[in-house]
Amino acid sequence: MEVVIVPDAAAGGELIASAIAHLLTGKPDALLGVATGSTPLPIYQALATKVRQGAVDVSRARVCQLDEYVGLPAGHPESYRSVVLREVVAPLGLSEDAFLGPDGGAADIAAACAAYDRALAEAGGVDLQLLGIGTDGHIGFNEPCSSLASRTRIKTLTQQTREDNARFFDSLDEVPHHVITQGIGTILEARHLVLLATGEAKAEAVALSVEGPLSALVPASALQLHPHATVVVDEAAASELKLADYFRATYAAKPAWQHL
Ligand code: PGA
Repeated sequence: MEVVIVPDAAAGGELIASAIAHLLTGKPDALLGVATGSTPLPIYQALATKVRQGAVDVSRARVCQLDEYVGLPAGHPESYRSVVLREVVAPLGLSEDAFLGPDGGAADIAAACAAYDRALAEAGGVDLQLLGIGTDGHIGFNEPCSSLASRTRIKTLTQQTREDNARFFDSLDEVPHHVITQGIGTILEARHLVLLATGEAKAEAVALSVEGPLSALVPASALQLHPHATVVVDEAAASELKLADYFRATYAAKPAWQHL
């Protein structure tokens, strides 16, 4: 696992947007797995800026969703489908045809989950999966004690996650209890995992995931199993890392050709 400590969220966004641009240069129709929440927004803003500047061609890129609320009315502004279309697909000038996501309004949720795993495989698999991390260590909506081998399925949110996400809704009561999430096993099939964490509230979850034991109790620790996982953290989110100095020295000495 590579850990890169950046000064702030904007620098993290710029670094990851550059990695996406590099990927698209070599593979213009790459499938990008995108995450929602506040943390990845600087990535999408930096990437959209690169598109406007003509520094990267995203016209053939494809975008897929990591997770989704179950049971929100179709078109609800906080459904993750709406968020991804608003924050990623539209600013990059992509059409909805370039977008893949699970159906959180399906009558048969189990079938919708299986269909999404199949759709990802049929699309050739995810080339680069962006991840955030919950204060409880979740990735996607894989809450603590999710199977490390799990596939896309329905999960129940913890009270902590519902409280963390209540800021996007008018009240806590409106935050759904159920979600569809790519499983940890599904996420681990992406060719490159890139997790961005910013702010002190994420410091403990980051330290447990990067330096703690592999454990279903800390779902993001599953990144330790992946051959190409990159964790980008700002100084605040890095503040509980014991090996911070080593990570800094390693990145400073990294050969330029190696990229993320
Ligand atoms: P956040 O969410 O970026 O809004 O903190 C991260 C997550 O819950 O995965």
